[in-house]
Amino acid sequence: MIVRRCIRLGLGLSILLTTAAGCSDADLTGPIVYEEQPAMSREVEGKAHLAGKPRIQEKARKTLARLYGPSPKEIHVPEGAPLSKDEQGRLGVLLANHVQTAQGPEKLPHAGGYGLYRRHCLHCHGVSGAGDGPTAPFLFPLPRDFRRGLFKFTSTPNGARPERDDLRRTIRDGLHGTSMPAFEALLTKKEIEQVVDYVTFLSLRGETELALIEEGFIADDEDEDALEDDIVDELVQSVFGKWEDAADTVVDPPVPRTPPSPESVARGRELFLGRTKEKLECAGCHGAKGLGDGPSFVDVDVFNRVVFGGDPSKMPERVAKLDEKARELWKQKLDEWGNPLRPANLSRAVYKGGRRPIDLYWRIAKGITGAQMPAHYPGIDHAQIWDLVNFVLALPYQPELLDDAPAPAAAEGVAADAPAVRR
Ligand code: HEC
Ligand code: HEC
Repeated sequence: MIVRRCIRLGLGLSILLTTAAGCSDADLTGPIVYEEQPAMSREVEGKAHLAGKPRIQEKARKTLARLYGPSPKEIHVPEGAPLSKDEQGRLGVLLANHVQTAQGPEKLPHAGGYGLYRRHCLHCHGVSGAGDGPTAPFLFPLPRDFRRGLFKFTSTPNGARPERDDLRRTIRDGLHGTSMPAFEALLTKKEIEQVVDYVTFLSLRGETELALIEEGFIADDEDEDALEDDIVDELVQSVFGKWEDAADTVVDPPVPRTPPSPESVARGRELFLGRTKEKLECAGCHGAKGLGDGPSFVDVDVFNRVVFGGDPSKMPERVAKLDEKARELWKQKLDEWGNPLRPANLSRAVYKGGRRPIDLYWRIAKGITGAQMPAHYPGIDHAQIWDLVNFVLALPYQPELLDDAPAPAAAEGVAADAPAVRR
């Protein structure tokens, strides 16, 4: 078993591992290093970057290593980091390599948040949590890049950090219809807490890295005081603060679910089709029949040709070949991470963020962070959101609900009341 995993790791990470042959335990915890965000040393169009500022770059690198440790093998947790208060969760982050058993200390090369992450998540989400593990290029949608602290399937407002329970739920139940697996059967409850901490750790680290880049961008390379301790402290506290605030912002519907009566479903349908005074644009994105083929997004066939039409690394070339209109639409309809995005096909009864009424309530009320699905509260009220939930849940079993739906117009963009994504 160990040998097989060594070979697999060796294949996937052959650039990083010096040798797969023999694959000793030392190799398993081998020279795996964090990857820098490109803006650390290169110009990135329209974004803060540190190109041409070698001294500030060095300071940023040293600061990051001081705060979070120089490599995944040596993890530091900065004072006050919003990780689990539970001793076990904390130990998880601190790479618990040994446990005390009746027979003496037992070596657990894969225990702890990092070890578990490395075994179960790294091949998709990557060493730094950039969503760039060796499996990633073959997947659609791509694994999440954790480094901006943005998560799609949360109970918190659009753009806010997730609540701990949101991450726990994603890891336990997976994201249906994507390659993100459910780990309920593979990890114990304690282990799930440990990977939640490790994912949070990678997010905090990535967000701090970005904050350092942004701060350094406005400083002069000669400035001795740039990125000095006080400023760094403030940056880090602001990164932590967003996570700490998240728990207080969970959106709980103040009215119970409306029973899913035919009347409620019919009201939901009218809302979906934009026939009420609120003129919702669901159908513009999700399509008149809810098939995920609305005119606000690139035509499904074009999308499929670009995303699935051959070598994933050649996708930009396929985009370049599109006609001007399709190319423009393509660029507008990428997700926050710059990846291709498709509105959900609502006829399948498969919901990434879960199929409980409350899950769909959250998706419709607060939208999906980073994925162009806008927040609809407070544009519509809670009872209307429940009507929409009832309609969405009924549709796969009663497709005739949309038999007479007119072709929708393309949406102008996201609804005006959708809050911009906070960084
Ligand atoms: C086979 C690939 C794969 C593996 C293994 C995997 N993931 Fe994912 N993960 C994904 C994909 C793909 C997505 C994004 C799906 C999407 O955006 O629709 C994702 C998304 C996520 C998200 C973001 C959810 C959100 O609300 O945005 C978290 C958190 C996450 N994964 C954690 C983990 C953890 C922890 C592990 C290991 C225990 C893991 N993943 C293993 C593929 C994987
Ligand atoms: C501007 C485009 C847009 C509008 C308007 C829009 N959506 Fe979405 N919606 C999306 C996209 C894109 C996704 C897929 C996000 C992803 O997979 O990451 C999505 C996903 C969903 C999902 C699936 C959630 C899940 O867990 O997989 C549901 C349900 C949904 N939308 C319902 C609605 C309803 C109801 C409305 C109107 C009240 C609406 N949407 C309006 C773009 C939109």
